Amino acid sequence: MTPADLAAVGLRLDVDGPVATITLDRPEVRNAQTPAMWIALGEIGRTLPDDVAVVVVTGEGETFSAGLDRAMLDPSAAGGDGESVIGLLALSDDEASARIEEFQRGFTWLRDPRFVSIAKVRGYAIGAGFQLALACDLRVVADDVRFSMKESALGLVPDLTGTKPLVEHVGYSRALEICATARVVGADEAVRIGLATGAYASDELDAAVADLVAALVAPMSGVVPATKALLQGAADRDLDEQRRLEREAQVRRFRAVAAALG
Ligand code: CAA
Repeated sequence: MTPADLAAVGLRLDVDGPVATITLDRPEVRNAQTPAMWIALGEIGRTLPDDVAVVVVTGEGETFSAGLDRAMLDPSAAGGDGESVIGLLALSDDEASARIEEFQRGFTWLRDPRFVSIAKVRGYAIGAGFQLALACDLRVVADDVRFSMKESALGLVPDLTGTKPLVEHVGYSRALEICATARVVGADEAVRIGLATGAYASDELDAAVADLVAALVAPMSGVVPATKALLQGAADRDLDEQRRLEREAQVRRFRAVAAALG
């Protein structure tokens, strides 16, 4: 997609060597999200250069994202094509589910082992905003962060791939409480419960993320993806399966290191 195509759906993509930065760029509506934005995010994932090692996702201005654009729930603005959220009502259950799967692809690619994804989060991350942050491997936040899974307040469930990572990070009971009550999770709690890896003063957040990015691109090519692939899903594997994957990955690493040493 061209920069103009991305701008039309409120996104910016900057690729600088091994680092890609995706910015939600609709600050006038607090970076509210639309289906067109989710489809474009999926397209970014499909077309990202192979040598990108870190993807940073952030929001323009003081708010990461206010979640779903409320205009998408306005029946008077909706077509029956599934481009709006209310437009899903015109589809059969199977068609609506397939359409939501397309939306979800805007989020799932951020888990690809070939890079590490980081959500750099300032201010509000509500609903779809919270879920976009959850789609990333790491969340690094400003001390004014306000996560809220607000779907239940609208009579909806979180459906943009956020429920699994939320349970993995904070556990079932805490995840249920956060989703069902739609309450705000601030910076200190986010770090304490494992939702964020670090919280920083707002004016120090960019530098903290830049340091993290530098540390992630420093290791020999291929080792961070191999490590991510190993750790991802480790909790779902038994010990024998996990240690088999460790052995196989290590043999590949031994060969890669030996080849690099010549
Ligand atoms: N959709 C569309 N426009 C939005 C928006 C949203 N989600 N959130 C904010 N805006 C707009 C406001 O209408 C306002 O526009 P105007 O200047 O034209 O009046 C502008 O952004 C600024 O908003 P505020 O003055 O409210 O900004 P704030 O900084 O004081 O507050 C906020 C920020 C707490 C995020 C507040 O705007 C808010 O609560 N927004 C709604 C959040 C929400 O309920 N999102 C839906 C979550 S559920 C979800 O995402 C569902 C899903 O995926 C299925």
